[in-house]
Amino acid sequence: AKPRVFVTRRLPEPAMAILHEHCAVSLWDNVETPIPRDELLRGVAMVEGLLCLITDRIDSEVVAAAPHLRAVSIMAVGYDNIDRAALAARGITLTNTPDVLTETTADLAWALLLAAARRVVEGQKMIERGEWGPWYPLQMVGQDIYGRVLGVVGAGRIGQAVLRRGRGFAMQLRYHNRRRNPTLEAEIGAEYRTLDDLLSESDVVVVTAPLTAETRGMFGAAQFARMKPTSIFVNVARGPLVREDDLVAALRAGRPWAAGLDVFEREPIGPDHPLLTVPNVVLTPHVGSATVTTRLRMATLAAENLVAVLYGRPTPHIVRHE
Ligand code: GLV
Ligand code: GLV
Repeated sequence: AKPRVFVTRRLPEPAMAILHEHCAVSLWDNVETPIPRDELLRGVAMVEGLLCLITDRIDSEVVAAAPHLRAVSIMAVGYDNIDRAALAARGITLTNTPDVLTETTADLAWALLLAAARRVVEGQKMIERGEWGPWYPLQMVGQDIYGRVLGVVGAGRIGQAVLRRGRGFAMQLRYHNRRRNPTLEAEIGAEYRTLDDLLSESDVVVVTAPLTAETRGMFGAAQFARMKPTSIFVNVARGPLVREDDLVAALRAGRPWAAGLDVFEREPIGPDHPLLTVPNVVLTPHVGSATVTTRLRMATLAAENLVAVLYGRPTPHIVRHE
């Protein structure tokens, strides 16, 4: 008999086809809306495999409700919504979808940093409000990117792709990471800095670190106070790395000069969010990997990962428990 799997959202057809070929599939048959908690707990009861998204909290309660579970596949690179200790305690394998989204997410970091530095969204809003008056020398002036200092916090695959793009803009490259990376230093020419030094030296700070117990809240008032009054702060990683109240206050106080954010402490956010009370922010709705091609690749890879683990085949995307 084919292994039984549960899928927490209807995925694009090519991914569903892979699952149906190898598994007995049940799913939360909805494209946009996350599965309610009780449906999730019911859904996992009989299955050996679970394919989930970043909107699903996979914790010890879910694991306890799934006595046959052997494999969890998340369609994402980040897996902070999953209690890895609870999976490890039961010997359940976790896979994710790195690599396929690296360049796409680095592109979005650059979209945010350029848009924030050059006030792209503010400019459009000015036009929409009918407030674009005649040209004058200091109208809508922003910050230069070319030739400036780019600092990346969390130099994994995405962070390195962000740095590589900086070479095309003749930027001086800095990185901060848990571990130093000699290959990165040799191949991309990025110099290691402590977090404090990176923050005070960089004209653009891009956050690409995973959310962990150590990184939660790592950007607060003290960190923003170290940044240059002309600096741009970009977060394409996870919202809770940043204390948002501190960031709003810091933007009001002028350090950083502007921010580009794709992720937030509690998503989704709405029009009443405090970040919308400061003019110098560019906000996107967690779309780092959101291109047609990449989201399709992530979905099919998540399906392939789940099938591979359930059939005992090798897959390079197993998340090792540390
Ligand atoms: C999205 O945020 C992901 O981790 O892939
Ligand atoms: C994860 O954050 C990565 O850089 O791939």
